[in-house]
Amino acid sequence: MATFENISLTRKGAVLLVTLNRPSKLNALNMRTLEEMRQVIQQVYDEDAIRGVILTGAGEKAFVAGADISEFSELTEVSSRKFAENGQEIFTMIENCPKPIVAAVNGFALGGGCELAMACHLRIAVQTAQFGQPEVNLGIIPGFGGTQRLTQLVGKGKALELMMTADMIGADEAKSLGLVNHVVATQTELLPKAEAILQKITSKAPIAIEMIINCVNAVYNKDENGYQTEANSFSICCKSEDFKEGVKAFTEKRKAAFQGK
Ligand code: COA
Repeated sequence: MATFENISLTRKGAVLLVTLNRPSKLNALNMRTLEEMRQVIQQVYDEDAIRGVILTGAGEKAFVAGADISEFSELTEVSSRKFAENGQEIFTMIENCPKPIVAAVNGFALGGGCELAMACHLRIAVQTAQFGQPEVNLGIIPGFGGTQRLTQLVGKGKALELMMTADMIGADEAKSLGLVNHVVATQTELLPKAEAILQKITSKAPIAIEMIINCVNAVYNKDENGYQTEANSFSICCKSEDFKEGVKAFTEKRKAAFQGK
């Protein structure tokens, strides 16, 4: 497995634990970390043995406290557009990844950190975690997909409020808004909870899981007819070996052994 400066990788069976590892800067996303993230996600796409991913932050304080503000002074009108497009592209790779990616939010998820968590398929947070889009404090707006994904997750009114006030919210409120799937009381419960959910998902037929991700993402793609995508995806599942195995296992009253074929 490749090694990186700002990201550490740990394999636990079929699950890859990806840890953003710049705790002295609250795991802020500098250009290098973003590029490393792109490579890691590409590896997840490419490696059959990886069936699920947990994304978390090093230390107990932050998941990711945003894009690295110290690099902002270099941005020009032209380079800032490229910067946003690059971040959007990497986060869209996460969102479209055929394998489930769970954000284990261990602390601050601010700006690009909240956007990163929202690009993941599910979010588990420790109770002390804080979420927010504080970009307006700097005179900018979310640029890595946050205006779109926050609105998708919490609805227009609350998304506008969070982005225009820059207010931070705690994990319980984030859960009540639909921004977070589950909240755990302590840091020690965070990764086990994420692992338990991934274990459940990765025991299902991988092609079916991939198709569910595609179909749900299609809801938000204005150029796509989600019902057509669903019918196509359903037929892709039906020609798979795993579909035959799933039905056979049901009639034989045993647990299905899916192969991802
Ligand atoms: N970019 C770069 N560095 C960051 C950072 C970011 N987004 N967020 C935190 N850091 C750095 C701080 O500069 C500090 O570095 P230093 O020790 O070399 O000075 C270190 O991380 C610790 O942060 P600090 O601010 O001292 O911690 P705190 O507990 O007082 O405050 C936060 C925590 C999260 C409230 C505060 O760091 C913050 O507001 N960060 C920026 C959040 C943000 O606006 N994100 C969106 C960016 S678009």
